[in-house]
Amino acid sequence: MGAVYQQEAHKEYCKHVGKKLILGAIYALLPLALLHSLLFRSIPSQHDDDQDYSIPSSQGLRAFACEPLGVPRRVSLLVLRVACVAKKIEEKGVGLQHCDYSNGDWVASTQGPKYNNTSCKMIRTGQNCLGNGRPDTGYLYWRWQPRECKLNEFDPHLFLKFIEKRHIAFIGDSLARNQLESLLCLLTTVSSPVLKYQYGEDNKFRRWTFDPPYNATISIYWSPFLVKAMDTTQGHNKVYMDSIDKRWASEINTMDMIIFSIGHWFNKPAIFYENGRVLGCHNCGTDNSNHTEVGIFDMMRKVTRAAIDEVSERVYKHREIFVATTTFSPDHFEGAWDKAGACPKVKPYEDGEKEIGYVEREMRRVVVEEVEVAAKVVEEKGRRIRFEILDVMKLASMRPDGHPGHYIHPYVMAKGYKGPFHNDCLHWCLPGPIDAWNEILLELIKRWEHEESLNKGLVRWLD
Ligand SMILES: *[C@@H]1O[C@H](CO)[C@@H](O)[C@H](O)[C@H]1NC(C)=O
Ligand SMILES: *[C@@H]1O[C@H](CO)[C@@H](O)[C@H](O)[C@H]1NC(C)=O
Ligand SMILES: *[C@@H]1O[C@H](CO)[C@@H](O)[C@H](O)[C@H]1NC(C)=O
Ligand SMILES: *[C@@H]1O[C@H](CO)[C@@H](O)[C@H](O)[C@H]1NC(C)=O
Repeated sequence: MGAVYQQEAHKEYCKHVGKKLILGAIYALLPLALLHSLLFRSIPSQHDDDQDYSIPSSQGLRAFACEPLGVPRRVSLLVLRVACVAKKIEEKGVGLQHCDYSNGDWVASTQGPKYNNTSCKMIRTGQNCLGNGRPDTGYLYWRWQPRECKLNEFDPHLFLKFIEKRHIAFIGDSLARNQLESLLCLLTTVSSPVLKYQYGEDNKFRRWTFDPPYNATISIYWSPFLVKAMDTTQGHNKVYMDSIDKRWASEINTMDMIIFSIGHWFNKPAIFYENGRVLGCHNCGTDNSNHTEVGIFDMMRKVTRAAIDEVSERVYKHREIFVATTTFSPDHFEGAWDKAGACPKVKPYEDGEKEIGYVEREMRRVVVEEVEVAAKVVEEKGRRIRFEILDVMKLASMRPDGHPGHYIHPYVMAKGYKGPFHNDCLHWCLPGPIDAWNEILLELIKRWEHEESLNKGLVRWLD
């Protein structure tokens, strides 16, 4: 992070808490000042020497209290204490910054998306709903409105500044890729990524960089179980619960931010192994009738924990790293996957119109629980690892209209086309609802940056 940038981030934060802080300081200082004048007016100034009131350096004070204070030093100290309290309150979630982005509504908006099929070249055919001729465009005119705050529009400059000289990695399945491609399209509006490498079947591992002044790196690692897994010819996956997938794990220390996004592969037929024996299977089929069915939620919990542990153990002790896990985003198949109109909705659900399903609730729950525990553990250990939940489950559940459906090929629109109709009611059109995931991601990163810069100010002062 450039020093200039840090100052900017800090300034922005100060603007945000400044008003609250000054008001708080005034209210807190009034009685204290009164008390002070009562106590010290008639008593000789034995407390006036600096020994009892070690005043921090003006630099530290500025960093912490946001304003250079041209007032007597003892009062400065009181202000500092008030600032301490204010920061604590801020951390407890009173402030805007701790807005719960997961709870809200989709509201109609006249402002369309920031990019389209012409301006972004990175949209793959399967998600290019505009390019494939999806006739309705209403799905593009909704914004996510959290209950507690306003979700800022995606600011590509700000995002690029945050990832300046950093490496942000998306790790997971095709929804991780969907989110990554949305992010690339959003960023392409201000700077063009350069593809640095791609390999693997269907280029499942790719890396881009953004040129100076940003020098940022974005990459994607295909790892739908996060642990080692193999396709078999018998049509099921072999998943090794105690072997983390080295293809991403071996590169952890090159990453500054990680976005994990998994879930859907747990619904596929699989045999799960641990410590050299079979734990059980899922969707076992007749081949594996000897194994017991394991709950997919337990498997999801195990791999989430394994990935978090891997990060905690492998990341060098003093490194700063941001790790967000995206919660489950359900599909919206209503009809057969190979008939036209498998997801025919053209509007979001209204709040309460559709109950959130059991699977998505449970998939979300295991992730939230694991990440919350991990966040607490690293905080107690004083590590600089930030674990966050990118909680999109509700946003996603409410958007049956955001999928390509049968507009996964351009020729669906051809005159006289009679099928076959293959439908995708799982991934998201680009542009589409998934762009909001990245707006929320930016807010989580912003919050992390603010707190890191405040902490650094505090550390400087304590030194
Ligand atoms: C696509 O976006 C570009 C750039 O914002 C704009 O000039 C163009 O009119 C858009 N095209 C369509 C079809 O909306
Ligand atoms: C983009 O979509 C429009 C329809 O919205 C279509 O006319 C145009 O050919 C598409 N452009 C590309 C480059 O796919
Ligand atoms: C950005 O990358 C270029 C080329 O890799 C390098 O020459 C330049 O010094 C980098 N800039 C910063 C600010 O790190
Ligand atoms: C199931 O277990 C029995 C007894 O251990 C064994 O003979 C059989 O081959 C197993 N079947 C499969 C499909 O693994």
